[in-house]
Amino acid sequence: REYELLVVGSANADLVFGVERRPGAGETVLGSDLAVHPGGKGANQAVAAARLGARTALLARVGDDAYGRLLLDSQRAAGVDTAGVLVGGAPTGVALITVDPSGDNSIVVSPGANGRLTPEDVRASAALVRASRVVSAQLEVPLETVVETVRHLPAGGRFVLNPSPPRPLPRELLQACDPLIVNEHEAHVILGGAGGGTGGADPEEWARGLLALGPRSVVVTLGAEGALVASGEGVGRVPSVKVDAVDTTGAGDAFTAALAWRLGAGAPLAEAAAYAARVGAVAVTRRGAQDSFPTAAEVDAL
Ligand code: RIB
Ligand code: NA
Repeated sequence: REYELLVVGSANADLVFGVERRPGAGETVLGSDLAVHPGGKGANQAVAAARLGARTALLARVGDDAYGRLLLDSQRAAGVDTAGVLVGGAPTGVALITVDPSGDNSIVVSPGANGRLTPEDVRASAALVRASRVVSAQLEVPLETVVETVRHLPAGGRFVLNPSPPRPLPRELLQACDPLIVNEHEAHVILGGAGGGTGGADPEEWARGLLALGPRSVVVTLGAEGALVASGEGVGRVPSVKVDAVDTTGAGDAFTAALAWRLGAGAPLAEAAAYAARVGAVAVTRRGAQDSFPTAAEVDAL
């Protein structure tokens, strides 16, 4: 197929402040100088895959404004095919991000143009979906747009979903996932939305519970504890890679993109997840989202 990975999803300008600690309600704190980085979970995934060497395309919507141009430039610089990036309809999405001294972030996203990526846009770009070995998505664009995407998957095509920010998912979408990639919070929201409780304290139970909702496979990321992979063949553990975190922003997106790309290349789930964990580990050692993503050579050197 023409593309190893098509990403359907969001593109945001990330407005980033370093803070000593996050403000509470009614409180003001001073932060560092503002840094503006290209981001958004979809755009991040596309850049991450392309930088690793994958033939990658992005289906997204940005505004006809300076942030939209920033995002298109970063996609093109990474080698992503941007024919599927639509322009206009609303301002480019913006993410307000605070990063604390431990490298953890808090994010508020204004979807802007991402919220105007419609099922109709997907139908108009169905040829792009059909031309892709793997299609990945997240949930910073409308849910119905993601559902429309899986209706156009080619025979033998693979769909990977990171349901972030999480919400309960329709069965049609769950059944298309191979894998569904979630962290703890996302696992609880999706399990809870399916009415079966939130799965207790054991991550292996969350993985099994999610698998029972229909995905062909599930990956549960556990931060410093690594990840779990679950499929019909059982549940396996993927160790984490120890690094000093500077900025975790976008590391999950790099993990998802790397995993999707390796799966499309035929790697078994546990092996693809172990590779993806190394990609994510490099990303947390550097500032920004897309700016922090490694090449394949940098992953191999880790
Ligand atoms: O996953 C990280 C991303 O989340 C940031 O780049 C920000 O844009 C938000 O979408
Ligand atoms: Na980073």
